[in-house]
Amino acid sequence: MNRKYRKTIIAGNWKMNLLPSEVKGYGEKLKCLAPKVKWCEIVICPPSLMLQAALKTFSNARIHVGAQNICTEAKGAYTGEISAAQVKDLGAKYVIVGHSERRQYYGETDKQVNLKVNIAIENGLIPIICLGETLEQREMGITLDHIRLQLKIALSGVPADKIRKVVIAYEPVWAIGTGKTATSEEAGEVCKEIRAQLRSLYGARIARSISILYGGSMNGDNAAELLAQPDIDGGLIGGASLDPEKFYSIILAANQ
Ligand code: PGA
Repeated sequence: MNRKYRKTIIAGNWKMNLLPSEVKGYGEKLKCLAPKVKWCEIVICPPSLMLQAALKTFSNARIHVGAQNICTEAKGAYTGEISAAQVKDLGAKYVIVGHSERRQYYGETDKQVNLKVNIAIENGLIPIICLGETLEQREMGITLDHIRLQLKIALSGVPADKIRKVVIAYEPVWAIGTGKTATSEEAGEVCKEIRAQLRSLYGARIARSISILYGGSMNGDNAAELLAQPDIDGGLIGGASLDPEKFYSIILAANQ
């Protein structure tokens, strides 16, 4: 973390978990814990049909809300999709883009990720852009090449005056939901490379202002070590975000 230049962010990705009727109870528990948090921005990304309930629960609590996905298109005949403008209009601040589960199970391509990044920014949402290599790619030694390519395509068309409005999340696919975490050195090395590429695309001042999160089995036990890496500015948390106390233990590590 480097708070001098960038925000520390702890974001919970609920994925397809919890029920609309459970949002309030979760929120009450987290709100009781979170007032002590000064140094990090807390974000909750619930399923889209719970966005409104989450926004209501977390209003006035300095806990921000984000969607887990948006459509590549602005509006129109796209049954089942939700638009960036709709998410923004509800009052959400963030949207996760290019999560590996969307890439893996729904065939989301780098090109679609790029369209979503741009449409999110155009509509005033902050995209949390997910990048990550598979185990096969790591074993082949092409992790950094793969991440560089994913990042370059994701940011295509994003001008320098808008790039401060993005957050990057490095999420090794093999670490998501598996209980296997990248070592802090492995995660730190990739996040350092992401920043180096941001520097070559947008210059040093901009690169040092962008928050880069780590995601993949982050929990209260490993968070402090991961966050001690200079280029890791927070976490994108799946499993451990479903329980407010477990989530809070990560927030505490980030608030040190
Ligand atoms: P996990 O998920 O914390 O359950 O590994 C992280 C993510 O997919 O964002």
